[in-house]
Amino acid sequence: MDTIENTLINQFRSPAFPGSFFISFEGIEGAGKSSQIVKIKEYLEEKNFNVIVLREPGGTSFGEKLRQAILNSEKDIHPVAEAHLFCSARAQLLTSVVLKELAEPNTVIICDRFIDSTLAYQGVARDLGVDNILKMHSIFPLNLVPHVTFYLRIDLETSLERQRMRNLPKDYFESRDNSFHTKLIEGYDLASDLFKDRIKTIDGSKTTDEVYLKLKSEIDQLLFEK
Ligand SMILES: Nc1ncnc2c1ncn2[C@@H]1O[C@H](COP(=O)(O)OP(=O)(O)OP(=O)(O)O)[C@@H](O)[C@H]1O
Ligand SMILES: [Mg+2]
Repeated sequence: MDTIENTLINQFRSPAFPGSFFISFEGIEGAGKSSQIVKIKEYLEEKNFNVIVLREPGGTSFGEKLRQAILNSEKDIHPVAEAHLFCSARAQLLTSVVLKELAEPNTVIICDRFIDSTLAYQGVARDLGVDNILKMHSIFPLNLVPHVTFYLRIDLETSLERQRMRNLPKDYFESRDNSFHTKLIEGYDLASDLFKDRIKTIDGSKTTDEVYLKLKSEIDQLLFEK
């Protein structure tokens, strides 16, 4: 890794609030993020954590408006505009929700997508370059990252099959072609190489129960074995 990229990686840190944790889930459409988040929330609530689930873009009224602006757009948005919209929603989410809630001990924030989605979608699939996305995150609060990120990795065929079964109307990104989705997988793989300590890659093609057990054991290590 060259020095510039190293410097860009080293600018990131996780919010430090004793007893509270920030977790994100990543992966392409149909990877199982939303399904697993429901189960992990239940598990952590049984362990007496206050669990707050957020989604990106969104999670604040400002962020939800930006979400609609992007995901319902019928026209192509320039990738630079896209990247800045996601960063705007993220900055607002971090300061108005994440940092405030984490200050309360025993809180777990679970975010359905975060910075790695921007690295994969805008950095790689939309060709802006990972370095440019990292640079956009060099100012507080965007330099804050989760303590752990679970990347549920599935291949394109699994994603398409699950989308077919789900049979929902396709949004702005879902309606793009297969080469876009192949680049997304490359982007996520690249992000997990850059952030080796933070991102745990989990085989999302396994059964829901198998994925859940793997996640639970990773979460136990993070929350209870330190
Ligand atoms: N491990 C699994 N095996 C088989 N089917 C699964 C598995 N995980 C999730 N599914 C199914 O695949 C579909 C997509 O799952 P889910 O909505 O959790 O994915 P997602 O990552 O949140 O997708 P999106 O990015 O589109 O929100 C759902 O119908 C879900 O029931
Ligand atoms: Mg989902």
